[in-house]
Amino acid sequence: MSNKGKYYITTPIYYPSDKLHIGHAYCTVATDVMARYKRLTGYDVMFLTGTDEHGQKIEDKAKDAGVTPKQYVDNIVEGERGVLDLWKLMNISNDRFIRTTDDYHEAAVQKIFKQLYEQGDIYKGTYKGKYCKPCESFWTESQLVDGKCPDCGREVQDAEEEAYFFRLSKYADRVRDLLVNTDFLQPRSRVNEMVKNFIDPGLEDLCVSRTSFTWGIPVDFDPGHVVYVWVDALFNYTTALGFLNDEYHDYDKYWPADVHFVGKEIVRFHSIIWPAMLMSMGMPLPKHVFGHGWLLLDGGKMSKSKGNVVDPYILAEQFGVDALRFFLMRTFPFGSDGNFSNELLIQTINVDLANDLGNLVSRTTAMVGKYFGGALPEGCSKWDAPEACDTDLIAMASALRDAYEAQMEAYAPHNALAEVFKVIQRANKYIDETAPWALAKDMEANGKRLAHVLYNLLEATRICGILLSPFMPESCEKLFVQIGADAGCQTWESAARWGSRPETAATTKGENLFPRIDTEKALEALAAAEEAAKKAALPDVEVEPQLEEKVDFDTFCKCDFRAVKVKDCQPVKKSAKLLRFTLDDGTGTDRQILSGIAKWYKPEELVGKTLVAIVNLPPRKMMGLDSCGMLISAVHTEKGEEKLNLIMVDDGIPAGAKLC
Ligand code: ME8
Ligand code: MG
Repeated sequence: MSNKGKYYITTPIYYPSDKLHIGHAYCTVATDVMARYKRLTGYDVMFLTGTDEHGQKIEDKAKDAGVTPKQYVDNIVEGERGVLDLWKLMNISNDRFIRTTDDYHEAAVQKIFKQLYEQGDIYKGTYKGKYCKPCESFWTESQLVDGKCPDCGREVQDAEEEAYFFRLSKYADRVRDLLVNTDFLQPRSRVNEMVKNFIDPGLEDLCVSRTSFTWGIPVDFDPGHVVYVWVDALFNYTTALGFLNDEYHDYDKYWPADVHFVGKEIVRFHSIIWPAMLMSMGMPLPKHVFGHGWLLLDGGKMSKSKGNVVDPYILAEQFGVDALRFFLMRTFPFGSDGNFSNELLIQTINVDLANDLGNLVSRTTAMVGKYFGGALPEGCSKWDAPEACDTDLIAMASALRDAYEAQMEAYAPHNALAEVFKVIQRANKYIDETAPWALAKDMEANGKRLAHVLYNLLEATRICGILLSPFMPESCEKLFVQIGADAGCQTWESAARWGSRPETAATTKGENLFPRIDTEKALEALAAAEEAAKKAALPDVEVEPQLEEKVDFDTFCKCDFRAVKVKDCQPVKKSAKLLRFTLDDGTGTDRQILSGIAKWYKPEELVGKTLVAIVNLPPRKMMGLDSCGMLISAVHTEKGEEKLNLIMVDDGIPAGAKLC
């Protein structure tokens, strides 16, 4: 493998306030595809992802959950089906994972903050403004939209406190120049947004410390202040390489980053605040920031608080990791927003993967098996008088790698895939044009031609397989086995070299790589899986909170609780809920109580039991029957389902015994 030098690529570090959803997976899959592509082409890649674990929102969430902030984030990051599990499932090939609660990062951020303070780019002042808690963002009055957070549209709070400020204003001209006159920020359309909305109205200094909560990195020279979470978070890209720490030692090798992939709502932080802070530190700037779009659900951004998130676990389990990865990259232009739907996912799998790619592979290998026992004869790569369809297919497949490369380099993986699928479709058409089954009718006359046709199909498939491998690593490995392409002809170089596959290499008829999906059944299964997941996420046991209001002792004593014995128990006609009890209450006269517990008990299993009733409630009529008192039961909720247990006491207790 040629070594083209280093390539450093990052995802945003995720905020573990809730479990991740398919929108988060989108960005990480895109970064993974890019990292795998760069490794394929011969770069020494560093791919970093991680989690951004400080801030008030996490402090609040942990409090609600009754755990420490660290316990809270540990569970979401390392716990079952947490961030690390998800990236493993999605086959994410990150080389490093940073948590901003890691000691080395915290210590390095303290050093950075101090350095900026000592050189005068951080100073102490008073912060007055608005704060959006969910976004962990400060806003000035003028930045609000209708008085609300311009990012998420939610309410903001007044905030005023002693705070440290970063002299962002000092860097306004240099940042403007960076955005306008270089290709630092992509796609280009995001440059206007930044300049018009943030720089031209005048960049104000940025508040970079907080005193109203404690879950953050302490400012070591001023206890009580914690470092603003975005300063802490952005420097992860450098501390994870060993900047100002001894945990890692490849800052000099990999910094500056070649590209930060980030969602569009955090482009402001990455294209204005981040370069300004790096300028202030005298550090080189990343080469590119790419702001990708959002996956939308029903036209809105996915968010846990809106309750419209899609669980990547469920989708991957149902459709396969590679199909999901492929769908995300194939369907949505990387720089724009896109509407996610399960129907679209299934349709993409059926059309592109099952129909186009899957059929090409299975038809080709089946024919090599059927007509040549799984290995083509020597000489099959050559044909003296190529037909137009041969020339066309070979030309398209031979030019594919360069066309694909141009799209990948332009951060347009969706277009790179479109190029690959043009060739896949061309190859399928080639099968129709050459009609191998007709050639096979006279092997003596047409056997050589048939072998050449099949060789061409295997070659086109091989080249497509190489270029698809960053998107669907596992499936492409299987594909290579099926078409008999060993490691030597899976390389980037060989993707531009038609004829790299040894002529007589054996093909293997393997499993169907991408089975067709029955839309209706799949949607039903998805709905069931989502329902089950929702239920599983509910607490095992929930009980009602205790009443705040006090009851005085005399009032309590007025309630007459007695042990009662069930003489008879019958369902009530026309009522699904009620059971009718005939009870011995120790008075010698039977007592009738109606109780809405038919859901939990069969009448016959209660006869003979000793229960507890309150006997001095005024009688009530239910379904035309008198109910004199009430049976006491314990109620709670299990996984969202109501549960009820009648209080049953020792049968040795006589009927009528008073409970007090
Ligand atoms: O912003 N579609 O973390 P985060 C596409 N901690 N991308 C989406 C998305 C969607 N529906 N929802 C979220 C943070 N994302 C900070 C980053 S970096 C120094 C600190 C993307 O967990 C979002 O755009 O809120 C962002 O790029 C990433 O997920 C992490 O979001
Ligand atoms: Mg966010």
